[in-house]
Amino acid sequence: MKALSIIVIQLFFFCILAFSSPFVTDLVCEYHTNPIGIDVAKPRFSWQIKTSKENFKQIAYEIRVGKNIDNKTIKTIIWSSGKIASDQSVNVEYEGEPLNSMQRAYWQVRIWDNDNKVSDWSEPAFWEMGILDTNLWSAKWICRPGLNNKIGQVNYFRREFTITKKIKSARVYATSLGIYQLFMNGKKISNDLFTPGWTAYEERLQYQTYDVTDVVEDANSIGVILGEGWYSGPLGRNEIRNNYGDSPAALVQLVINYTDGSSSTIISDENWKASNGPIIESTFYDGETYDARLEDENWANKGFDDSQWQKASILDHRYDILVASQGVPVKAIEEIAPIEIITTPNGETVLDMGQNMVGWIRVKVSGKKGDKVTMRFAELLDKEGNFYVENLCSAAATDVYILNGEAEEVYEPHFTYHGFRYVDVSEYPGEVKIENFTGVVIHSDMKATGSFVCSDSLINKLQSNIIWSQKGNFFDIPTDCPQRNERLGWTGDAQIFAATAAYNYDVSAFFTKWLKDLAVEQYSDGRLPNIVPNIMNGSRSSAAWSDVCIILPWTIYQVYNDKRILEEQYESMKSWVEYMRKRAGDKCLWIGDNHFGDWMAFASTQPDYPGATTDKDLIATAYYYYSTYLLSKIAKVLQKDEDATTYSILSQEIKKAFNLEFVTTNGRLMSNTQTAYALALSFGLLPDSLLSKSSNFLAQDVEKLKHLTTGFVGTPLLCKALSDNGYKDLAYMVLMRKEYPSWLYPITKGATTIWERWDGIKPDGSLQSPRNNSLNHYAYGAIGEWLYSYVAGLKIDPENPGYKHIIFDPQVGGGLTFARSEFYSMYGKIKSEWKINENRITYSLDIPPNTTGTVKLPKMDPNEIVLNSVPLSKKRNIEFVETPNNLVVKLGSGSYQITSPLN
Ligand code: BGC
Repeated sequence: MKALSIIVIQLFFFCILAFSSPFVTDLVCEYHTNPIGIDVAKPRFSWQIKTSKENFKQIAYEIRVGKNIDNKTIKTIIWSSGKIASDQSVNVEYEGEPLNSMQRAYWQVRIWDNDNKVSDWSEPAFWEMGILDTNLWSAKWICRPGLNNKIGQVNYFRREFTITKKIKSARVYATSLGIYQLFMNGKKISNDLFTPGWTAYEERLQYQTYDVTDVVEDANSIGVILGEGWYSGPLGRNEIRNNYGDSPAALVQLVINYTDGSSSTIISDENWKASNGPIIESTFYDGETYDARLEDENWANKGFDDSQWQKASILDHRYDILVASQGVPVKAIEEIAPIEIITTPNGETVLDMGQNMVGWIRVKVSGKKGDKVTMRFAELLDKEGNFYVENLCSAAATDVYILNGEAEEVYEPHFTYHGFRYVDVSEYPGEVKIENFTGVVIHSDMKATGSFVCSDSLINKLQSNIIWSQKGNFFDIPTDCPQRNERLGWTGDAQIFAATAAYNYDVSAFFTKWLKDLAVEQYSDGRLPNIVPNIMNGSRSSAAWSDVCIILPWTIYQVYNDKRILEEQYESMKSWVEYMRKRAGDKCLWIGDNHFGDWMAFASTQPDYPGATTDKDLIATAYYYYSTYLLSKIAKVLQKDEDATTYSILSQEIKKAFNLEFVTTNGRLMSNTQTAYALALSFGLLPDSLLSKSSNFLAQDVEKLKHLTTGFVGTPLLCKALSDNGYKDLAYMVLMRKEYPSWLYPITKGATTIWERWDGIKPDGSLQSPRNNSLNHYAYGAIGEWLYSYVAGLKIDPENPGYKHIIFDPQVGGGLTFARSEFYSMYGKIKSEWKINENRITYSLDIPPNTTGTVKLPKMDPNEIVLNSVPLSKKRNIEFVETPNNLVVKLGSGSYQITSPLN
C-alpha cells in the first residue's frame, strides 16, 4: 500500500514536472497539418508551446528540416535554422533550398524559454510539394465524345492497369473542368466534395493531391465521375451556362514510386473509356436526378465490362493554369436528424430538420424497381404553414431518386446542394418515417476556433445562428446565400463579415485562396468585380464591396500575423486605391458613381420617416479614406516607406475633404443616419473636437427610435461606434431589442440562421418580397465581432498582430451576468470571461504561452482587487497602471482569476 502511494506521489510530481517543462506541439505548415501537394516555395511554419509555467516566453528557436525520417528522427538534414534568438512561433519562413516537385520534407522545432532552458525537439511533421512544373503534367484532358453539353450532364470515365513491382508510395494529382469524384478499385478516394473548388478558372485551376499508397494493388481500376459544377453549369440570377467553357473534362495523373527506386505514371488519356451513368442530371440550383436502375456499382472496380463504353476524347486545354490547392476542402461535416414530420394544410408531407442547414438529405428507401422518391427543399413554411419556395426564385432545389428495387437502398446526391430547413417528400414508397432521412451538413472544413456564450439565451441563439450562416456560406468560396439561384462570392458580404468569421473559424487558408482569385479578377484599371470568382462581365465596383481587397488581407494579418498575405495582395490593394483616387479626383471626394450603398438598411412605412438612407457619396468617400489609411499602414508594415508616406498624406487629404463636404461645423453629418455616424466614428474620420458632438447625434437617433436602422454597411460598426464613444448602454439596448428591426427579432420568429433582411418574415407573419429574401445570409451576423471583443472583451492588439499581445476589455452591461469568449489562436487558447456574483465580478482569463495580455478594468482601488487569491497591491511581479478611466493590469502567459467589487 505504502509502495503504491509512493508511486502515485512520484507520478504526480512527474506529471507536474513533465508539463512544466515546455514542449512544442501542433506543428502546422502553411496553416495545414502535414500538407501534401503544396506549391509554396518558402512554406511557413507555426507551432504552439504547452507548459504550465506562467509568464512563459520563447526567446529562441531552432528548426531542422530533413529528407527522411527514421524512428521519429529526422535524417539527411537539408536545412537547419540554427539557434535563432526570436520570440516568433507563428509563420516562420523556411529558408532552405526550394524543394523539387513531389518532394517531401520533414521538420521539427525546439525552443528556448525565458530561463534559457531548451525544450526537447518536437515530434516531426512534414510537408510535400505538388507538381511545380507545367511540363511535368503528362496527363491529358479527357472528355466525353460528342454529347457533352446537356444541362446537368454527368459523365463517367474509367480505365484499368496493372503493376508488377513493389510499391513504395503513390500519389494521384487530379482536377477537372467541372466538379469530380475520384475512385480507385471501387473505393471513393477522398471525402472531399465539389473538387476542385471554384476559382477564377481562366487563370487558376486547383488540382488535388491524394496519397493512394494503400489503395494501389497489382491489378487496378481508376474512375472519375464528372459533373458540370461551376465550370459549365448554370450560375447567377440569369442562370447563364458555360461560363468558363462548354466541355467538362478531367485530368488525372497517378505517380507510383517503387521500392527499387523506379516510378511509373498512369495518366488520363485516350485509353480511358467514357459513358453516362445513373446520375441523370445534377446542377447546383435545381438538384439531382438519380436513376438507380442504370447503376452498375462495379463500374469503378476492376474486371468491369466497359466494352459498351465509348473511348474518351481528348480536349485541348491549358496546363499553365494549374495550381496546388490552397483552400480548405468542402466536406460532409455533421449529420442531423429531422425533428418532426408535418402534414401541411395543402397536404404536403414535410420533414422539419429543426435547423436551416446547407447540404443534402441521405434517404433510405425500399420499394419496387421504378418507384420514386422526390425531395424538394425549402427554408420556410408560409403564414398558413404550407411549403414555401418562392424565395428560391427559379432554383428548383429538387432531388429525385428512382429505385432499382433491391433490398434497402440508400441515396445521397453528388453534385448539388441545398439550403433548407424543410423537405417536402413525395412519391415515397411506403410510410415516410423520420429514421429514413438524415440531414448531411456540408461546408468548407475549417477548424472551429471561437465560441461566445453569455447569460442571455437569445444572444446565445444569435451566436448559434451566426455560426450556422457561416457554415452554410463558407462553401469553398464565401457565398452570399446557399439556397436561391445565386450563391455567389459577393465581395461586400465577405468584407463586412470577415472579422466575425475569423473569430468563429480558422479562415486563414480559406481566404488566402479566395484573395488570390480576387487579385486575378481585378480589372486593369484597378476596379474590382463585386463577385469573385467573377461571372458577371463588366460589373461595377461598389464602395464597401471592393474594399474587401484591403480590409480582408488586413484582417488576416491581424488574426494570424500573416505578413505574406499583405505582400501578395499589395499590388491589388494599391491599384484599388489608385482607381478610387482617379474617380475622386483632386477634390478627394468620390462622388456620383453607382454603388450598392447601405444595402438592406431599415425601411420605414411612415410617411414622415422614409427610412434610413445614407448618401452613397458619403459612404464611398468614407471607404476611400479608410482603405487609403489602411494601405498606408500596410505599406509601413512592409517597409515600403515611400508608399506609407504617400498614402498617409492622401488619407489626411481625404479626411479633410470628407469633413468639408459631409460634416457641419457642429458635428452633424450630411446624412443624419446611424450608418453615416458609425462610419465616420469607426473609421476615425472626425477631428477630436467633433467626436463628442457627432457621437451625441448618433446616440440621439438611437435613443429616439429605440432601434438600429443600419444596412450591410453600418451594421458591423454601429455597436462599436456607440460603445467606443461612451454609449455602451445604447449599444446593449439595440442588441437586446426583440422587436423589428433588431438582431433578436428573427429569433422570436424562429430563425436558426441570420436573415438577409431585418424582416424576412414580417411581424404579421407575412413574408418579404421573394426576390431578396434569403434566410441564410451571414452579413448581419457581423455583430459577432462585437460580442467576442466588446461584450466578453477579447480583442486583438493591432500593433501586435496574431494575438501576440491580447487586450482584455470587457464591457459589462445589458443586464448580463456572465459572458465568455474563447479563441484558439495560433499560440493556443485564449479565454476572456466575466461573471457577476452578488456585488463582485470575477474575470477569468487564459493567456497562452509566448503571449502577453493587458486587462482594462473599470477604475478602482487596486487594494480591492484580488488576483489569483492575492490582493493585486501585494502582487510584486504584476504591473498595473491607473489611467483616468481604467485600472490597467499587465499579465504574462497563464490562467488568471481577478475578482473585484462591481462598480
Ligand atoms: C446578394 C447580396 C449582395 C448584393 C449586392 C445580392 O443579391 O445576395 O448579399 O451583396 O446582391 O448588393
